[in-house]
Amino acid sequence: MPSRRKFIQYLSSSACAASLTLWPQRSPATNLSPLGFEGLAHGTDRHHHLPPGYSAQVLLRWGDLLSGEESDWHPRSMDAEEQNRRFGYNNDFVAFMPLPLGSMGSDHGLLCVNHEYTNPTFMWPGLNRITIHGAMTRERTAIEMAAVGHSVVEIARHDGKWSVVDGGYNRRITADTLVKLSGPAAGSPRLQTRADPQGRTCRGVLNPCSGGKTPWGTVLMAEENFNFVFHGAATDPAEQRNHQRYGVGSRSAYRWWSRHFPRFDLGHEPREANRFGWVVELDPHTPGSNPVKRTALGRFKHEAATVVLNPDGRVVVYTADDQAFEYLYRFVSSGVYAPNDRASNTHLLDDGTLFVARLHNDNTLQWLPLRHGEGPLTNANGFRDQADVLIETRRAADLLGATKLDRPEDVETNPRDGLVYALLTNNQSRHADALDAANPRSRNTFGHILRLRPPGAPGDVVEHAADSFDWEIFALAGNPAEPSQNARYPGTTGDGGWFAAPDNCAFDPAGRLWIASDQGRNWRATGFADGLWGCAANAAGEYDFRRFFRAPVGAEVCGPEFTADGRNLFLAIQHPGVDGLVGSSYDNPATRWPDFDAELPPRPSLLVVTRDDGGVIGD
Ligand code: FEO
Ligand code: CA
Ligand code: CA
Ligand code: CA
Repeated sequence: MPSRRKFIQYLSSSACAASLTLWPQRSPATNLSPLGFEGLAHGTDRHHHLPPGYSAQVLLRWGDLLSGEESDWHPRSMDAEEQNRRFGYNNDFVAFMPLPLGSMGSDHGLLCVNHEYTNPTFMWPGLNRITIHGAMTRERTAIEMAAVGHSVVEIARHDGKWSVVDGGYNRRITADTLVKLSGPAAGSPRLQTRADPQGRTCRGVLNPCSGGKTPWGTVLMAEENFNFVFHGAATDPAEQRNHQRYGVGSRSAYRWWSRHFPRFDLGHEPREANRFGWVVELDPHTPGSNPVKRTALGRFKHEAATVVLNPDGRVVVYTADDQAFEYLYRFVSSGVYAPNDRASNTHLLDDGTLFVARLHNDNTLQWLPLRHGEGPLTNANGFRDQADVLIETRRAADLLGATKLDRPEDVETNPRDGLVYALLTNNQSRHADALDAANPRSRNTFGHILRLRPPGAPGDVVEHAADSFDWEIFALAGNPAEPSQNARYPGTTGDGGWFAAPDNCAFDPAGRLWIASDQGRNWRATGFADGLWGCAANAAGEYDFRRFFRAPVGAEVCGPEFTADGRNLFLAIQHPGVDGLVGSSYDNPATRWPDFDAELPPRPSLLVVTRDDGGVIGD
């Protein structure tokens, strides 16, 4: 049971503590290389910034050609067919998959990139909130559908410069791509539509945000805010309740999709929305292979899907539901990974158990299984089978009493020591009467980071599939010099080293943590642009936080992804000139990054960062 006394002790001690004291470092594996770069100051302007001695190459921009003959490209004249063979919009997740398959090379590979959503007011001139509804024709909507999803892009490095290779791998996954449904919910009547009476294939990957990589060389795309494109209402009360829990039909920011393509109209096709909100596996090494929605991993607004192997070979996937007061999940496969048998690994994510986290105030964590027939997940509560539990994952987790978190986003495990980091972006809606030890601030504007400790961590043999973990707060984001923010870090932050709204993160090959931020329209609360921060611990476990990258105004920073040699860092810069900038648009943008061409709007683009002397990034 949660210990009320311990929680009160926690609150009273945290109120006066200047910095956080973490678990003692018990393994030499956590002694990391120190940061060797000069941290950037905070600020905001039209450009991106890196420390002295580092440079960024703009590798891919929205509209860049991936395959076929080059033609004159311009947003004003592009059609959906053109968009289908060009880099998509709002790049988020980035995976570098070395070629050949199974190698650890850092000079040649497949870049696998999610395209989360579109910003029509920056894709076409003359649009604003009023005119947009009339201006979004069927053809423009088809371009949006072709601009979201995923890009597989072969890239290679020669003489220090990266370039796109058109060698047969390059392709786009869009909102129209044929995708298989697999796992326990595939074939459920609740996934059946006019176009797919079997409930086993659907069209498209919608709003893939972050994702993950599997040890067998596939990538996972996490479908997040799929509700935005559906409009209308179902007539069946059970589906109405289901759609309401996911915000489907009520917050349609793209309602022209349902006007031009009836499958997005819930009145016409009430179960189409149940075919989105899944983790989707793609084999980028096999051109033409269909993506597969792995329903065993549940249906919600998945932020990411981070894969780690348990010591017994079972596959563990951490994934979070990115909305205020939603949950942290973990999938554990039934089968075990076979290093020398790629084909046998392709169904590992179809059979296993999905768990949701309950974080007790005494700093223990319990993983609660979402199994049909157990506890409240029965017919009496409207769950006829496991498919129902997975389609309505959120309601199942509500009934199990999971812990409501402050917008959980990326989750990563440190490969050096097995500790698990869960980034919580913010939650302005949390009130003082709803605090708990894992969500200790009301009106949480700046977000925080939880660190989970599976049995065995920090160490070499870490039981990621165990029923119980410990947890602690790694950082409470915000300005530590401003007492009212109650921000705390486990070490030093300097002038530019503190951050807000942690969203994505990654570990470099040395085991240092890199945190990317997405303040959204709230960035004026700090007054600075989003970015990327490096943090490294010394032998005493004290961290040094430094700002490494500053994004152009209105953009968030996604990826980050390192090559295995630590010498290349991919950053996906999403929606430059957009967030929190009233009046900024195609015609009069707050920045024209990265082209700074008066004829072009700002473009979401992918950067590759290197050190000018070719050294390891961060050293
Ligand atoms: Fe797409 Fe959770 O950010
Ligand atoms: Ca995100
Ligand atoms: Ca990540
Ligand atoms: Ca975000």
